[in-house]
Amino acid sequence: MKIISVVGARPNFVKIGPFIKEIEKHNVHGKESKSLERIDHILVHTGQHYDKTMNKSFFIDLNIPEPDINLGIGSGTHAEQVGKTMIEFEKILRSERPDWVVVVGDVNATLACSITAKKENVKCCHIEAGLRSGDLSMPEEINRLVTDRLSDLLLTPDKLSVNNLLNEGISDKKIRFVGNIMIDTLIDNLDKANTKRISSILLDNRISTEEIIDSFLSENMEYALLTMHRPSNVDNKYILTSIIDLFINEINNKITIIWPIHPRTIKQIKNFNLWDKVINAENMLLLHPVGYHEMLYLNKNAKLILTDSGGLQEESSFLGTPCITLRWNTERPVTLRRNGGTSILVGNDIKKIRKELLNTLNSSIESVKPELWDGKTALRCLSSILEYDSGL
Ligand code: UD1
Repeated sequence: MKIISVVGARPNFVKIGPFIKEIEKHNVHGKESKSLERIDHILVHTGQHYDKTMNKSFFIDLNIPEPDINLGIGSGTHAEQVGKTMIEFEKILRSERPDWVVVVGDVNATLACSITAKKENVKCCHIEAGLRSGDLSMPEEINRLVTDRLSDLLLTPDKLSVNNLLNEGISDKKIRFVGNIMIDTLIDNLDKANTKRISSILLDNRISTEEIIDSFLSENMEYALLTMHRPSNVDNKYILTSIIDLFINEINNKITIIWPIHPRTIKQIKNFNLWDKVINAENMLLLHPVGYHEMLYLNKNAKLILTDSGGLQEESSFLGTPCITLRWNTERPVTLRRNGGTSILVGNDIKKIRKELLNTLNSSIESVKPELWDGKTALRCLSSILEYDSGL
């Protein structure tokens, strides 16, 4: 059997690692028992994320093999990224003729490669299927809808996602509830993350060349972790300025904020002439995008996290870190406090962010781990593909 797996952007790398390891285990086991068919695996990187900090460091940290093929797509508008990926990926499919294309998550690579696979009559499996925010202004929601509509096998992280797919009329024969593959990576890497030190994370990744004041470097300092990159938060000058002003002018005496900044956000902060303000803020420490283990350490030890990232909502829920989600909706309702998670939605309404930030600073939150977020999802993903092919 031949499988092509596809990655394009940072969140994909965290999801594909455990799947590749499971294929390797299958092949070792197959050699010993001689009864299992070998799986030939090809990893294709579309090249959407290319900076060292957004890309290569993740492959090294997570011990993911170098991609066999890099399509080198790079930056561009959505249509440019999707169009170029389809043109290049079609050539790969025509020369390799795989049995399956496996796509993960909801980025432009997921959409482009699932469409191309189906047009070339190759079976497509979507890992992390069934998530829905209901918000079509999010590019990722369009990617999810199209990919799920086309895929032959839909592997979901939770039962709410199974219901979403059934409600859209998708046959239950195509759907398997397998759990959250990103949590496989998290569990596998917790020990390494625990060896990190806050002082070295800050010194190694800081953007400012000014000296870091000593209180920032104390190992038991209290801090809030901030990440923001969604167009809804960073592409509008008024919204981005109000959020930054809240953190700098009102929260400054309450908590220190550690902010690993996404390239899209840096660009916009500079475009809107806000750079001097954030780099000189006394309660804020700006970092380059950090590695996987550093992020896991920062997340696990934060007093709270403020984010618009999908993955961080899930990771903080699993770790029990209170999360204030800077979005009006989420495709991951399993992470919400009302469903046993640690997250609350505040959008980009300054009054709401202020209220929930202060509430969360003064309270503690208990969380429950969702079903099958147990570190064994990748095994269930691969078994689902093998069972599908043997007609089970
Ligand atoms: C993408 C995903 C999003 C995911 C996010 C995580 C889509 C539609 N969106 O958004 O779901 O949460 O990645 O990071 O696929 N850039 C660099 N260096 C890089 C990569 C990007 O400087 O290595 C710049 C690009 O020039 C671009 C901006 O960052 O201007 C945004 O990159 P892009 O790939 O378009 O999407 P993200 O916003 O990162």
